[in-house]
Amino acid sequence: MNRLTGKTALITGASSGIGETMARQLAALNCPLVLVARRTERLESLKLELEQKHSIKVTTISIDLSVAGSAQSLYDQCQQQQLQIDILINNAGFAKHGYMLDIPLETHQEMMQLMVTTLTELTYLFSQDMRQRKEGYVLLVSSLLGFLPGPQFATYSAIKAYALNLADSLVREFQQDNVRITALCPGGTATEFMDVSGQKIDGIRNLAIMSSESVSRAGLTALAKGKGNVVPGLLYKLSVFGLRFVPRNLQAVFGELATK
Ligand SMILES: NC(=O)c1ccc[n+]([C@@H]2O[C@H](COP(=O)([O-])OP(=O)(O)OC[C@H]3O[C@@H](n4cnc5c(N)ncnc54)[C@H](OP(=O)(O)O)[C@@H]3O)[C@@H](O)[C@H]2O)c1
Repeated sequence: MNRLTGKTALITGASSGIGETMARQLAALNCPLVLVARRTERLESLKLELEQKHSIKVTTISIDLSVAGSAQSLYDQCQQQQLQIDILINNAGFAKHGYMLDIPLETHQEMMQLMVTTLTELTYLFSQDMRQRKEGYVLLVSSLLGFLPGPQFATYSAIKAYALNLADSLVREFQQDNVRITALCPGGTATEFMDVSGQKIDGIRNLAIMSSESVSRAGLTALAKGKGNVVPGLLYKLSVFGLRFVPRNLQAVFGELATK
């Protein structure tokens, strides 16, 4: 992770959960930060805390990234403020739990805009500058569900498979330009994600929930090392490994158990 020291990082979804934790961990490495999300007060109080604790500059940008054109607008704001982004962390995301047809179409569109279109556009725009400088780091926050079908999280798991495939492809394309890209694929993590999604995690499944600190650290460490993807936690690593031996239709059954 030390390789990231002092580099300027832009984090989407920095107002809570994994994004907020990454902000704290990068601040400890003296990285100037650009914190992005919709909730301005959360971003402002994190900025205040991190600037006081570490001698770094923190910029906040409040923007709804599920709106068409928001990636370009965010990129333009960074240009106007002469912020050179060395590390792009595409983390903002959410899901709604339930059968696809019981969830409004607008919610699916919002998820796709945020986690497919905006994520791709931000990656494109900022990576172009990194390519010119011959150095850069891009993290795409995917999910364990990127590896398997997820009934009751159908659109979400398809979206996360997109992020995983994108990173695994670009890791080779970007190699010649010294731009590193990693997909972080967490399993259950203690953040506001479950509240937003409405999924109830009970009983034994609670034991598998990881802290956002360890998930975030695993992502940043893998990014610094240039790994194409990382699954934090031994249990989840073993699950992904085991999936290789399970036929696709049975994977959907496992996915259903994990996501019910
Ligand atoms: N927690 C888990 O179990 C888990 C597992 C696998 C993958 N993930 C992934 O991890 C990432 C981070 O989620 P989290 O677990 O940290 O959940 P979280 O605590 O709910 O954080 C989500 C972040 O995304 C931001 N966000 C959501 N919609 C946005 C929008 N339209 N525009 C801008 N920002 C938006 C939120 O900020 P505002 O509301 O202030 O905009 C918030 O900062 C997501 O991509 C999620 O899919 C989470």
